Amino acid sequence: MKLGYPPAPQELDPIERVSRDELMALQLERLQRTLAHAYGDVPLYRRKFDEAGVHPGDCKELADLAKFPFTTKQDLRESYPFGMFAVPRERVARIHASSGTTGRPTVVGYTKNDLDVWAEVMARSIRASGGRPGDIVHVAYGYGLFTGGLGAHYGAERLGCTVVPVSGGMTPRQVRLITDFRPDIIMVTPSYMLALLDEFAAQGLDPRESSLRVGIFGAEPWTERMREEIEDHFEIHAVDIYGLSEVMGPGVANECVESKDGLHVWEDHFYPETVDPFTGIPADEGELVFTSLTKEAMPVVRYRTRDLTRLLPGTARPAFRRMVKVTGRTDDMIILRGVNVFPTQIEELVLRTNGLSPHFQLHLTRPDRLDVMTVRVEARPGFDRGRAEAAQSLRQAVKDGVGVSVEVEVVDPETLERSVGKLKRVIDKRDN
Ligand code: DLL
Repeated sequence: MKLGYPPAPQELDPIERVSRDELMALQLERLQRTLAHAYGDVPLYRRKFDEAGVHPGDCKELADLAKFPFTTKQDLRESYPFGMFAVPRERVARIHASSGTTGRPTVVGYTKNDLDVWAEVMARSIRASGGRPGDIVHVAYGYGLFTGGLGAHYGAERLGCTVVPVSGGMTPRQVRLITDFRPDIIMVTPSYMLALLDEFAAQGLDPRESSLRVGIFGAEPWTERMREEIEDHFEIHAVDIYGLSEVMGPGVANECVESKDGLHVWEDHFYPETVDPFTGIPADEGELVFTSLTKEAMPVVRYRTRDLTRLLPGTARPAFRRMVKVTGRTDDMIILRGVNVFPTQIEELVLRTNGLSPHFQLHLTRPDRLDVMTVRVEARPGFDRGRAEAAQSLRQAVKDGVGVSVEVEVVDPETLERSVGKLKRVIDKRDN
């Protein structure tokens, strides 16, 4: 790697060095304020709290949060567009929204202070990833209603970096700008980083020779194998960043480059819980749930993310708990003839198979009233002979590792569609 670590501790903000007890005291005070704000200023929360028979005053310690009702994406949809706002619209400085391809978009709002907090946690995330003031940051997350581009942008500016706001798309130009501007850091979805890798090859450039030292990847699930793939081909540190628009955007949690052992949740602003996705009962491992602790425009109380993970004690930032890399969402789970399959499980196995590239899609069909999953995967360039063996070996690995039979089709390099932003892995052609 082109970078020496760990970074000096004095570079941390005072808040990153507090004790767990100090952090928890701060959380309780902020939680109580948030519950009062939500109840007092958002009719939906008042109704939900009243229905559940709880009042903000019932929160005497952090564990009392479990008495409060959840918030779901459905609540946000029903409040479209501005029904979740807790401040007069004039105080809302910015709006973001989900793409809304599967229903009404969910709209989120930020006061000036919220934007300030977001920039701060993003700056903290970039620094945890190995970024330093003065670095050049190439932002290839999409700009617009999606939170990726602008979130990364203001965080990098806040840290004192030079930002190159490229947004997604126009892949040949991305590579030209990386070559000419010599950025230290790239912020992009891991799947689009793979498209950039192809483009380096197409332009006859060695990606290891690029100026990049660190990539900050998120907005979609990716695996440890994918980390190895990217780190190896670019000779950079590949660091995981997590977030979601309903809670803030990117920068809710981030890995520390020196440990790469899960993502530290910035718990001074976002309070995490994990619950059983079916019963909603707190559990060590399960669906991640967030309560915002400082948000003004749109506080969220126990928001069900649908992301599956586990919370662990802090390491590189001892007071802050870590979340294990998110490798699936409850709604990404494919149930194939009774077996639960996550696309990331297939990703791990594809990348372990000699001759197969990380570019693959999962096609679901139902030919004889029985679900069939076909892994359509590109061979690595130059891997022409041995494709049948590779297909067989992946089939076997899925059977052994996941416990289900799948079809495998090995196709030519550069034949599957590339993503520009978030990857669409599953193509479901079953007619339900
Ligand atoms: O994807 C925010 C973001 C932008 C995060 C750029 C990181 C980098 P949404 O569009 O609201 O926000 O989508 C949020 O994306 O609930 C997860 O399912 C997924 N997701 C985000 N980061 C990760 C990650 C942005 N590091 C949804 N690993 C979340 C796995 C992720 N999934």
